[in-house]
This record gives sequence, structure tokens and C-alpha cells, in this order.
Amino acid sequence: MKVFIVGIAGGVGSRVAAQLAEAGDEPTGLVRKSEQVAALAARSIQTVHGDLVAMSVGDLAAAMRGSDAVVFTAGAGGKDSDAGTTSIDGDGPGKLAAAAKLAGIRRFLLVSVFPEAWRERRMDASFEHYMVEKKRAETQLVLTDLDWIILRPSALTEDPGTGRVDLGLAKVHVEITRDDVAATAIALLRTPELKRLILEATGGGVEIGDAISALKAAVSPAGPSGQ
Ligand SMILES: NC(=O)c1ccc[n+]([C@@H]2O[C@H](COP(=O)([O-])OP(=O)(O)OC[C@H]3O[C@@H](n4cnc5c(N)ncnc54)[C@H](OP(=O)(O)O)[C@@H]3O)[C@@H](O)[C@H]2O)c1
Repeated sequence: MKVFIVGIAGGVGSRVAAQLAEAGDEPTGLVRKSEQVAALAARSIQTVHGDLVAMSVGDLAAAMRGSDAVVFTAGAGGKDSDAGTTSIDGDGPGKLAAAAKLAGIRRFLLVSVFPEAWRERRMDASFEHYMVEKKRAETQLVLTDLDWIILRPSALTEDPGTGRVDLGLAKVHVEITRDDVAATAIALLRTPELKRLILEATGGGVEIGDAISALKAAVSPAGPSGQ
């Protein structure tokens, strides 16, 4: 499977790329810094030098053409002001989806966020802006006719992956490792029956493969019992 990843040098994106490469798949993606090109090439991961905001939809389509799936796991990370959040987290997924459509790629996975993340805390205006933009991006993707999946992870940690999650339509926002988010994203990409679904993932005790199988059974026309 050839997967084009925007955010490939980031926390989740680099793990998606590494796990795909280890499995013999072909990850590729956009990087903005030349040192990232070299670092990923050292792990046999080829990249395209480019910036999601600066590139046109046509440029992006050309960069991803021939891929089987597209993953958006980029983010401004609060580094480039609210304008950065708007252009990357907010506008980015819809722009990338338009490029995927142009390139004839139907499968699209968006790493998003729990809408109710940290609702129990008093967050600053930038965080609230981030949440609004993430939701706007989800809506733009849902309105396409692509075979999209939106994966909302809870708060991301750097802890080693467990291979286990709590995955479903509505979960409690706690924490999940970036390793487990990456593994869940890949498992979803390998399950074409799961499409046009918004899923929430947090740390849990169910093996990722079993969690995916349970979802597959739940959405099958025969229903969960197979009847
Ligand atoms: N942090 C959390 O607890 C949390 C919780 C739920 C969901 N999320 C979401 O999960 C996703 C992954 O998070 P993460 O922590 O793995 O992200 P991350 O480490 O901050 O990585 C984000 C990546 O996006 C890239 N990027 C930013 N702007 C770009 C542009 N214009 N063109 C191309 N690439 C660009 C960055 O590139 P550079 O390396 O060049 O900067 C970086 O590699 C994000 O969408 C985030 O919003 C995060």
C-alpha cells in the first residue's frame, strides 16, 4: 500500500510512516525542511519537499498521484499563531481532499481531535480557535464523496505503544500513545469496509485488530451478530 502522509515528520505522521515501512508498505509525504528529507531517507522513507499551504491543489495532486491512500496528520501545533491554525488545521484537510479527488485517490484518513477535549478546563482563546478549526476541517471532509475516515485521538503521549485501544463512535477523552494512534490509523487504512465514519480512540485494553474487527462487524449489512 502506498500512502501519502501530510505531517510525515511529525509525532503521529513519522510513526505511521515507520510502521508502514516496517510492514513493507510505501509511505511517502510532504516535508518542509531539508534535514527531515535526509532523516526520513535514512529510514528508507522517500518524501516530497513542499508546504501544504504554499502548494496549489494541482501541485498536491501531482505529489500524491499513484498513492492508494492519503493521511492528514499535520498541525500548526500552536506555533504559527491562530492564522497558522486556520490555514493548516482548518483549511488543510479540505484542500488535501480536493487534491486527492483530482489525483483519483478515494481513501483519506484525517487525524482530528475529540470535540469535547478538555471541556472541563478553562482553555485560552487559541485553544478554542484550534477546536473550531478542527471541526470545520472535519465538516469539509465529510461533505466530500471520498472514502474518508476521521480518527479522533484523545490527548497524545510519547509513551511506548501498547497495541491496545478503546476505539468506537463515542469515547471518553483521556490519553493515547502516538504509537497506538499510528497503528490504529494503519489498521483502518487496511479495512476498506470502514469508511465515512468518525471514530474516537483513547487508551484501552482491546487489541487494535479486535477493535477494528468489532467495528467491521457492527457496520456490516448483516449486523453485529452476522444475521
Ligand atoms: N497533541 C495532542 O494531544 C493532540 C490530540 C488530539 C489530536 N491531535 C492532532 O493530531 C495530529 C498529529 O499531532 P502530532 O502531535 O503528531 O503533530 P506534530 O508532531 O505537531 O506534527 C505536525 C506536523 O505537521 C507538519 N506541518 C505543519 N504545517 C505544515 C505545512 N504547511 N505543510 C506541511 N506540513 C506541515 C509539521 O511540519 P514541520 O515538522 O515542518 O513543523 C509537523 O511535522 C495533529 O493534527 C493534531 O492537531 C493532537
